[in-house]
Amino acid sequence: MSTMPVTPPEEDDRPTPISHLPIPEGARPNLALWVENLSVSFDGFKALTDVTLTLEKGELRCLIGPNGAGKTTLMDCITGKTRPSSGAVYLESRLYDLTKLSEVRIAQLGIGRKFQRPTVFQGHTVYENCELALAGKKGVFRTLFARLSAAERTRIDEILELIGLQDHAKRQAGLLAHGQKQWLEIGMLLAQAPSVLLVDEPIAGMTHAETERTAELLLSLAGSHTVVVVEHDMEFVRSIARRVTVLHQGKVLAEGPMAQIQKDPRVVEVYLGA
Ligand SMILES: Nc1ncnc2c1ncn2[C@@H]1O[C@H](COP(=O)(O)OP(=O)(O)OP(=O)(O)O)[C@@H](O)[C@H]1O
Ligand SMILES: [Mg+2]
Repeated sequence: MSTMPVTPPEEDDRPTPISHLPIPEGARPNLALWVENLSVSFDGFKALTDVTLTLEKGELRCLIGPNGAGKTTLMDCITGKTRPSSGAVYLESRLYDLTKLSEVRIAQLGIGRKFQRPTVFQGHTVYENCELALAGKKGVFRTLFARLSAAERTRIDEILELIGLQDHAKRQAGLLAHGQKQWLEIGMLLAQAPSVLLVDEPIAGMTHAETERTAELLLSLAGSHTVVVVEHDMEFVRSIARRVTVLHQGKVLAEGPMAQIQKDPRVVEVYLGA
């Protein structure tokens, strides 16, 4: 138990505020996340060039594009894993640039990231995994021995129901099916009450039934969360997509409703036609 990661204290990681947001105040009250002219270069290779993206609160945005287009790199920049060479990322109307903050701090501000490989605590039950996630910075040791408040129990029950694992609460996470582990990890993200969820290739390795259930889950999370989904499976994308952004060679190639994107000759040429 003592070997589990414990989130370090973040007292000395206060953001340096900027004096104003580069959008007129009140102009976009529903803005959830704003990526502004983001560029990333790896040893001279430009993985992202001047990417600008705005997400409304409660939106579900699909991010598509060929391998190497920069989709994961964009998520890495939003979550602080990769530092851009220029550009900025803003969260709602907060007056600081996320690209200057640590990964831990960005997560605390409400941006949750789902990686492709599930990273649940295999030896603990589904319920304990949610408990650990809910505790966040309280620390693992304290969590497993402290009594949960009624509100915390209610929240875990809500999450288990949302991810469809209410009947598996006492099962060891390591024994879950692949799809169930993925949902549990989404549940663990939800326990930290993020406002923005970034989900990279969620259905890789899933069965058809698991894929359908994942589509329902992501759709149910939109509205109360801003959700960004990267996925190559176009049938899946069509089943959840509202607005779609297409990245190609590190640039935004096209953006719009799925119906329009599917007909865009540039998108067909570089991606959908393949
Ligand atoms: N740490 C790194 N160092 C060097 N190059 C990198 C690094 N991370 C990504 N790249 C390069 O940047 C480009 C964009 O990669 P990225 O992983 O963002 O693409 P992607 O759109 O997520 O692709 P995929 O659909 O295959 O996941 C690729 O050419 C990749 O090789
Ligand atoms: Mg990727």
